[in-house]
Amino acid sequence: MRYGVDGDLLSESEYEKPLSVFLPLRVRRTLVNRFCLVCQNVDCKSRGSEELMQELQERVAAKGLADVEVRSYMCFGACQEGPNMVVYPDKCWYAGVKKEDVDEIVEHLAGGAHVERLDKIDPSLKELIYQLLDTGVF
Ligand code: FES
Repeated sequence: MRYGVDGDLLSESEYEKPLSVFLPLRVRRTLVNRFCLVCQNVDCKSRGSEELMQELQERVAAKGLADVEVRSYMCFGACQEGPNMVVYPDKCWYAGVKKEDVDEIVEHLAGGAHVERLDKIDPSLKELIYQLLDTGVF
């Protein structure tokens, strides 16, 4: 394990990320147009969110989407619906994501359409989380 500039503990795979991830978050936010926040808490992880995040990171890098960052998130509070991820600032929530959904999510991250069939979370919870994200706490 190693530490990033933000003081975050990095796994070996995270350490292999592009140099931009080592910039302070406030600087990265000026370079990144779109975040894909992937829950890495216990329930989502038990449903494969770690593998999904890695797959998304690899696919985004392979597609050359330098203004997109796929990163972990602590928990969105919809643990039984996981794996959960939110594309921000688009404010699109994807729940129950499976590996076969990754193609469509990458297309969304590249500027394509929102994958509506994966958006199945209660609107009041979504609004709460989006308000939290708007504060910049992630
Ligand atoms: S464990 Fe993923 S939303 Fe809580």
